[in-house]
Amino acid sequence: MVTTRPMLRRISAQVRGEASKPVPAERPARTRPASPVATPPPPAIERSARLRAYRETGFEAIQGWCQPQTLSLLAELAEIQDDAGVTGGSCEIGVYHGKLFIALHLLRSPGTRSLAIDLFENQELNIDHSGVERTGEFVRSLQAHCPEPDAVDPMARDSLDLSDADVLAILQKYERFRLLSVDGGHTADHAVNDLRLAQRVLAAGGIVALDDYYNQDWPGVHEGVARLFILDSPRIFPFLIGFGKLYFTTIGHHDRYLRAMVTRLKEPGNTAKLVHMYGHQVLSVRGLAPQAATG
Ligand SMILES: C[S@@+](CC[C@H](N)C(=O)[O-])C[C@H]1O[C@@H](n2cnc3c(N)ncnc32)[C@H](O)[C@@H]1O
Repeated sequence: MVTTRPMLRRISAQVRGEASKPVPAERPARTRPASPVATPPPPAIERSARLRAYRETGFEAIQGWCQPQTLSLLAELAEIQDDAGVTGGSCEIGVYHGKLFIALHLLRSPGTRSLAIDLFENQELNIDHSGVERTGEFVRSLQAHCPEPDAVDPMARDSLDLSDADVLAILQKYERFRLLSVDGGHTADHAVNDLRLAQRVLAAGGIVALDDYYNQDWPGVHEGVARLFILDSPRIFPFLIGFGKLYFTTIGHHDRYLRAMVTRLKEPGNTAKLVHMYGHQVLSVRGLAPQAATG
């Protein structure tokens, strides 16, 4: 081992009993001016910068069905989850070209992975023709616009066909998700199946975003939610609705998330009102002030 001079100084200081004193670092050789050391930004700040960049470039370029305000709401929700200590990766059932999925991926907790479930090439199973996806476009979107695409796992499967063993394998690999979008098949059977699936892989305090709840062209989604609440004892409850999506969370976090969103959307320019759905208060958001809307 080559013992360098600073290490020697540290050793002799320890011998003299001065180990706790900081040893001045050796002046670097003056070959070129020292460049400033870049301190990485805190994860939350880096995350919102990445989300803004995605919104300004990729989001506009990728074909799909997601309103830009959804990104603003999700960014607020991810912050609220951070405050509540809720962690986990992201998952979407029905990714199409990845327009929303990439935003979900950006909002996952550091060090986690995201799961993208879609029929992909098996479009003969897309019985209600809710978006006709091919893996190629999704992968192209990831390559062009997604930071850390290697942390995304595409799963080419019919969500109706996922077994208990599949759910177990998902739980073993990802533990539980903190953000999960349900936007696959839009029949009532698909909606209720995918919400039941979502409940099984969702973290406590995780959030499910369900697309098209009030879309008159896709009444199956509404019927699926009704079936879940009338036939089952669900463990997720709605707390927010806006820009085409209904958001659910687990009961222990419902009031906290609702209150946090009410507070965050108090600024003038936001339009929101409290309503009741399935016995729970829900914040209905109709408009976001320009600042909130740009995230
Ligand atoms: C409306 S698109 C999703 C839009 C997408 N979330 C976005 O942000 O643009 C519906 C997607 O669900 C997929 N899909 C339909 N039925 C499915 C099923 N049974 N299992 C998994 N994916 C399904 C389709 O292949 C399609 O890509």
